[in-house]
This record gives sequence, C-alpha cells and structure tokens, in this order.
Amino acid sequence: MDIQVPFILLGLGPVGRTLVRQILDTHKTVAQRTGIQFVFEGISDSSGLMWENDGIPEEMLQKILRDTDEHRRLNGVADLHPHAKLNDILRPGTILVDATHSLETTPVVKDALEAGCGIVVANKITLADEWSKAKMYYDHPLIRYEATVGAGLPIISTLRYLLDTGDEITSIEASVSGTLGFLCTALELGVPYSVAVANAKNMGYTEPDPRDDLSGYDIVRKALILARTAGWPLEMHNLTSEPMYPPTWVSRTVEEFMTALPSLDEMYAAQVRLAQSEGRSLRYVAHLTSKGGRVGLTSVAKDGHIGSKSGPANSVEIFTHRYQEMPLVISGPGAGPEIKAAGVMEDMLQLANILQNRLQPMNL
Ligand SMILES: NC(=O)c1ccc[n+]([C@@H]2O[C@H](COP(=O)([O-])OP(=O)(O)OC[C@H]3O[C@@H](n4cnc5c(N)ncnc54)[C@H](OP(=O)(O)O)[C@@H]3O)[C@@H](O)[C@H]2O)c1
Repeated sequence: MDIQVPFILLGLGPVGRTLVRQILDTHKTVAQRTGIQFVFEGISDSSGLMWENDGIPEEMLQKILRDTDEHRRLNGVADLHPHAKLNDILRPGTILVDATHSLETTPVVKDALEAGCGIVVANKITLADEWSKAKMYYDHPLIRYEATVGAGLPIISTLRYLLDTGDEITSIEASVSGTLGFLCTALELGVPYSVAVANAKNMGYTEPDPRDDLSGYDIVRKALILARTAGWPLEMHNLTSEPMYPPTWVSRTVEEFMTALPSLDEMYAAQVRLAQSEGRSLRYVAHLTSKGGRVGLTSVAKDGHIGSKSGPANSVEIFTHRYQEMPLVISGPGAGPEIKAAGVMEDMLQLANILQNRLQPMNL
C-alpha cells in the first residue's frame, strides 16, 4: 500500500509547472520504486490558492497547466482561496514547495514548520536574504533546497555530507551560471560580446532584460547559498561582484543597453586573447572562503575542472581538509526547469521519508 503524502505548491512559473507535469508523468514509476504518492492538496500563484481536501483531480491540474502556459493566472478558477487559507490546512506530514521568486513566502514557511510540515525551496531570494532572516533555512532539519544552485546537481547535499562527517570546507570555486557559461564559450569562439549577448537573449537563455544575468547578481545569490551551506554565515556585502557592463548603464532602457553593447566588444575580445595567449580560459566564477568572496570574470586553467567545461555546464570545486590537493568536483548541466524540478522532487522524496518516520509512532 503506497503512502499518500499531501503536497502544497507555491508558484506556477516554469519551475512550478514543470514540477506538476513531472509528478503527474512519473507518479506510477515513483510509487513503484519508493512506495510514495504525492497528493496535490493545494496549488497557488500570486492571485490565490486552489485547495481540495482530498486532492486536486488530475483533469483540473491539466487544465491549470494549460491555462498558466498561456499566462492566465489561477484567478480564473472557481473557489479560489486567499493565501491566508494556508494556515487552516497545514498539518504534520504535508510537504510545502516554494517555487516562487519572492520574499513574501518566509512567514508561510515559518507557519508550515510550526505545523510539522517539510519544506522544499527552489526560491533563492529567501535563502539569500539577510542572515538573521535566512538562518532558519540552513538550520532546520525539515528544509531542503538542493535545486537552488546547479539545479539537480547534488551540490548542497555534498556540502552537508562533508560537514556531517566532520570535514571542514576551506574554499569553493563555482561556475554556476548556464547563461554566463554559454556567453564565455561564445567569446572564446571569437563571437563579439554584443552578438553573443543578443544571441543568448534571442534563444531565451537570458532574462528579457539581459542585465539581470550580466549583473552577476543571481550568481552572488547562489554563491551566498553555497557559502552559508558550507558553514560560513556571510552577508551580501561580504561578496564583491563584477557586472559585465559599466555601472552607469543601469538606468538605460533594454533597447538602449543592447544598442550600446558593441562598444564593449573590443574590451572582452582583448581579455579572451590575453587568457588564450597564457593557455587559459575565461569563466564567470565565484571564489569563496569563510571570510568572503569574489564573483566575476576570471582566467582559469584551460584543462581544469571549470576551464574545460563549455556552454551552460556548471562545475563546483570543493576544497576541504580531506580534499586538500585535489578538490571534490561536481559537474554537469545546471540549468533549465526540467532538471531543477527533478531536484525539487528528489528533495520531496527525502522529506517524505523523514516525515513518515516521524508520524509513524503517532499512527500506532
Ligand atoms: N526557471 C529556471 O530554470 C530557474 C533556474 C534557476 C532558478 N530558478 C528559481 O526558481 C524559482 C522559480 O522559478 P520560475 O522561473 O518558475 O519563477 P517565476 O517565473 O518568477 O514564477 C514565480 C511564480 O510564483 C508565483 N508567486 C509569486 N508570489 C507568490 C506568493 N506569495 N504565493 C504564491 N505564489 C506566488 C507567481 O505568480 P504570478 O504569476 O501570479 O505572479 C509565479 O507563478 C525562482 O526563485 C527562480 O530564481 C529558476
């Protein structure tokens, strides 16, 4: 007999929607392998919460997916509840997934923990909030957030395993942006910077405003999550970052920004030529220690773990007391809703087992 695990999803963007599809597509295989069946009790976007005590029927979920694929919000659904309804329905054993891009979910997460729920976070914003507010995400045994860095790659769990077995992390080198990896590879192939950015934008690799990626701010968030997981309670101001455009361009419109980009072509071409003349590669890398870190374009060994990867591949090198000379390395594709959603599902399965073990004595 399969164990039914209630599940509430916050956020129906690409990650949330892909997660719903993956769970619907794989529920038989997952139940056969793990004995766990997730029951969609609640699903929400910013307009409200849809909730069914016995689980939202599959046909309704498919309709929601079709509607949200076409950018319609849940507010078209009959009987939509306000978000405050969550307080009435959270109960021990439920898994709450935060797939939003918002700081507003922290109070809900707190309430859910108090109610005995497990939490899976895909939302980097809350984890990169100031330490006094974000601390609970790193300390609580019923919170998982593997998909926030490197999508489905087992980076967070590896850092935790190292610390749990008494090792001490000394430094981390991380190339964790698929978009900037794509850009660096294009530059190495001789594509002018302005053309590489325009191509990445047209292929949907960047946000509609490419500065959201080129600012490096998203990498700073990921770097902060890695550092905090490594046991270093750093703040944003402990990390320096180098945007791939002049700071004065912040106030320009996207069109003005794109038009001005060719003026940066020669500068980036020269940096690539210099690195290549030294037998090295340029990558956008986060270097982290317990004291702080730097995030920016860096010349790295061409045949190293980071320099030898091309395109959107992610690579993280972890140096510890046990891995001093040769780092522990985790590499692979690190972008895209499919693998990110799979990372969320793996966290859900782990939590489901822990929650069931906690509930069992109560059920006897
Ligand atoms: N897409 C990727 O491949 C990717 C890669 C790496 C990391 N991530 C991270 O994963 C998270 C989700 O990504 P995404 O691309 O799916 O995000 P997204 O497109 O920004 O979608 C966010 C979703 O959250 C909903 N939302 C906002 N506030 C809410 C609230 N208070 N309660 C319930 N729902 C709320 C939004 O609803 P409305 O539409 O109604 O506003 C929307 O459905 C983000 O933090 C992102 O940084 C995504």
